[in-house]
Amino acid sequence: MFDTILRHCNLPDGRTDVDIGISAGRITAVEPRLAATAGDEIDAAGQLVSPPFVDAHFHMDSTLSYGLPRVNQSGTLLEGIALWGELKPLLTQDAIVERALAYCDWAVAKGLLAIRSHVDVCDPRLLATEALLHVRDRVKPYLDLQLVAFPQDGALRAPGALDNLRRALDMGVDVVGGIPHFERTMTDGAASVKLLCEEAAQRGLRVDMHCDESDDPMSRHIETLASESVRLGLQGWVTGSHLTSMHSMDNYYVSKLLPLMREAGVAAIANPLINITLQGRHDTYPKRRGMTRVPELLAAGIPVAFGHDCVMDPWYGLGSGDMLEVAHMGLHVAQMTGQDAMRACFRAVTETPAAILGLDGYGVAPGCRADLVLLQARDPVEAIRLRATRLLVMRAGKVVARTAPATATLSLPGRPAEVDFGLHRGQVF
Ligand code: FE2
Repeated sequence: MFDTILRHCNLPDGRTDVDIGISAGRITAVEPRLAATAGDEIDAAGQLVSPPFVDAHFHMDSTLSYGLPRVNQSGTLLEGIALWGELKPLLTQDAIVERALAYCDWAVAKGLLAIRSHVDVCDPRLLATEALLHVRDRVKPYLDLQLVAFPQDGALRAPGALDNLRRALDMGVDVVGGIPHFERTMTDGAASVKLLCEEAAQRGLRVDMHCDESDDPMSRHIETLASESVRLGLQGWVTGSHLTSMHSMDNYYVSKLLPLMREAGVAAIANPLINITLQGRHDTYPKRRGMTRVPELLAAGIPVAFGHDCVMDPWYGLGSGDMLEVAHMGLHVAQMTGQDAMRACFRAVTETPAAILGLDGYGVAPGCRADLVLLQARDPVEAIRLRATRLLVMRAGKVVARTAPATATLSLPGRPAEVDFGLHRGQVF
């Protein structure tokens, strides 16, 4: 006997028309046809049922602050950093909490139930840290929020930043962050990577650094991050975020770097919406795309996730918490239009970031927590193509969000009354 059965589900791995049985908040059966009945039966009608979206790279302390204290007129990274500097002294804990909770509402509605957020720890008051620790507790029943201690102004460059970072970790922040390319010199950057990885190893924490977020082909901090992972036995616990300089690096060097990353168990996170808008800004033409080498990283056996990074903040005035929009952009920028490549883009916003965050009980299999999203699409590629409506979002077996199906009524002579954007299977084009 089950509490709930979802019937006629298509799964991201390609299985079609399966039933999912749920008991006490857990998935207890995934079978072609469950004979048992349940108090609550939901007909997925051959649409995609996926584990929830996961955003492995976000900044929740600045989200939804767009326009405060003024908008970013140029839309550049530099004006964004200047704006964040203007906003920081005006921040209050209540305002950060309120905006973060509002963003988590958006996330849940979009089936995004786990987020790794960096939190700027350079402010000695640690206002944002306290605020987001509070938010992490508040949203726990419906969203897994993992926090990274992020020294935005440089762990070594900004006075007191390293102490503040350690205090934030003492307060319960989950992951050690860093920003080596923003330190004063390449040597300082490498020193910061070493120091921060040692801090993580001592505390038994994961590492996720903003790493080489520039168009500088000579930026080499990912190499240091990988070698420190090996030295300290942190394989599988370390992530390099952005890695945009890899776009511009010498090909021979990259051919040496990728196996090192693989051996070091370092994962990569690209942030397609942000990378494509902020990088290459000093170029005339041809203009570099700036996103890291996603297909090459995947081919080398390195896990790659796509992150949202920003939503309506000093750096980026767009976004809505829709990880399918992120996957859509990543697919285009990386030219990942092959069949396997498109499905890899779906995994880059679901199972890969779940593994990077170390989420427990994630997936559509017996024993997993019943966190599920019913999409108005038949498979992962169609979901990306349509940025499909999240018809239903479930957390631990309970429905936490519903959205009406996207549809339009037509008034055209000799044409159907409703438009269907789905793929017409069997039709020869
Ligand atoms: Fe970031």
